[in-house]
Amino acid sequence: MKMRPAVTLDAPRLAWIESTQPMSAHWGEKGFAGEIANAASHIWCWEENGEVQGFLALRLAADMGEILNFAVCPARCRRGIGFRLLAHALRDVRARGGRTVTLEVNVTNLPAISLYTKAGFSEWGRREKFYGGTDDALIMGIRL
Ligand SMILES: CC(C)(COP(=O)(O)OP(=O)(O)OC[C@H]1O[C@@H](n2cnc3c(N)ncnc32)[C@H](O)[C@@H]1OP(=O)(O)O)[C@@H](O)C(=O)NCCC(=O)NCCS
Repeated sequence: MKMRPAVTLDAPRLAWIESTQPMSAHWGEKGFAGEIANAASHIWCWEENGEVQGFLALRLAADMGEILNFAVCPARCRRGIGFRLLAHALRDVRARGGRTVTLEVNVTNLPAISLYTKAGFSEWGRREKFYGGTDDALIMGIRL
């Protein structure tokens, strides 16, 4: 089991994990390849027995990080992988001089909201009817 940064060869696996989780972003293989090549982007992978089981992608601009995509394989959920990815990404942002991390989450996505709250995030704002014209987006943030 190990945490490691994503490399270009991970793009198909990351796109597959994303496709199994409707609440994640929808970048596809090309989108992941572009993000992995972007110097402002930091994508962390959790690997078990040589296979990536979850990832977290964020961008860091100046001292502000933003989580853009985050998912764990359904069969591996609720085993602490998401929390480990999030805690590791926050430590990495802090080490790089980041001071805040924000994200947008669908107000109906209770597992993710619970995870972010457990990690110390709180609600910083709300975008009404942001998802599909019906569901609000919560803006959550943490000061590091
Ligand atoms: C959100 C997600 C990444 C969590 O990954 P995970 O590996 O299952 O999370 P963990 O096992 O580390 O759980 C950590 C905490 O998250 C919360 N949580 C996770 N799954 C939950 C669920 N099904 N119901 C309620 N709370 C949940 C709990 O607070 C949990 O702590 P606990 O186990 O002590 O109760 C995963 O559910 C996922 O991929 N969801 C779909 C994609 C998504 O929503 N991404 C975020 C978009 S903003």
